[in-house]
Amino acid sequence: MSGETKERPVVLTCAQPTGQLHLGNYIGAVRNWVSYLNDSECYFGIVDMHAITLPYLPADLRKNSLDCLAQYIACGLDPQKCHLFLQSHIIGHTELAWILGCLCPLGRLERMTQFKDKSEKQEDFVGSGLLFYPVLMAADILLYNADVVPVGEDQKQHLELTRDLASKFNQTYSDTFTIPEARIAKVGARIMSLQNPESKMSKSDPNQSGTLYILDEPDVLRKKIKSAVTDSDSEIRAGEDKPGVTNLLNILSVATGKNVTELEKEYSGKGYAPFKETVAEAVVEMLNPVRERYKNVSTEKGYLQEILKSGAEVAQRRAYKTLAKVYKKAGFVERPR
Ligand code: TRP
Repeated sequence: MSGETKERPVVLTCAQPTGQLHLGNYIGAVRNWVSYLNDSECYFGIVDMHAITLPYLPADLRKNSLDCLAQYIACGLDPQKCHLFLQSHIIGHTELAWILGCLCPLGRLERMTQFKDKSEKQEDFVGSGLLFYPVLMAADILLYNADVVPVGEDQKQHLELTRDLASKFNQTYSDTFTIPEARIAKVGARIMSLQNPESKMSKSDPNQSGTLYILDEPDVLRKKIKSAVTDSDSEIRAGEDKPGVTNLLNILSVATGKNVTELEKEYSGKGYAPFKETVAEAVVEMLNPVRERYKNVSTEKGYLQEILKSGAEVAQRRAYKTLAKVYKKAGFVERPR
């Protein structure tokens, strides 16, 4: 798809190429992005430059970036309806980050909660890129003059910074950037570990039987859901005292489109075993088409490259427009042609 239609809002979001997506990524993020495809101009970036802010292996990054693209397509991000691109393919992200960085108070970055959390976990080395991470993220968003940015709750502070940097630039130079609006995913979409329902479902959970991957085979999904932690009574209802059952109800609710109250009524008095079986079958059914599509696209390297090429073309055009304006306002001499 090419050509911007004026009236449609520009939606942009990005994610790091983390390898296998799990149910929390799917329900909390990617499925929501799909809902914007029909009435917005959508830019979805895989932020490989953010991925090098912590220790990593180049070969993994390369593999994960393409694999991530294949998984997104499998989840329904139809490349005919959105622009999918890799951050490192577009000139402008780091260039704009530099300029925004010069407007960003150092203390603000040092106080970011994610910086503090991540840097504390590093044993021997914290690169400056980790500190600068939020400025690069602001550049990702402002480079496209995005109107709407769907993100998880954990990115709220980064979005606040982005809005402040946009305003600061607009005030310092002149009106340039749209102030983007964050769309925070609903709390109900928080999917917890099946083994430890007090903490979020995660790829780095040491107990991997608590994490459902979107590409897990049906029998693996069934087995993990069957062994999900519940509690000692057998009441199927949501509540703070029943995190395991609540999580399963939330998952079933997303998979079936029925709300939790409805489901509580439907399964009241039925016992955990048949309930889990229902959850398992619903999840299997929801993920079957995703896994099938993944099998079809993931081996098509040429097709994936084509998508990155056309995504980058449209993204770059938009990025260059913003960057040219920004450079001019910042006082840089126009590059001789
Ligand atoms: N920091 C985001 C995350 O970890 C990823 C990200 C980078 C992003 N750039 C972005 C999200 C721009 C939205 C818009 O989830």
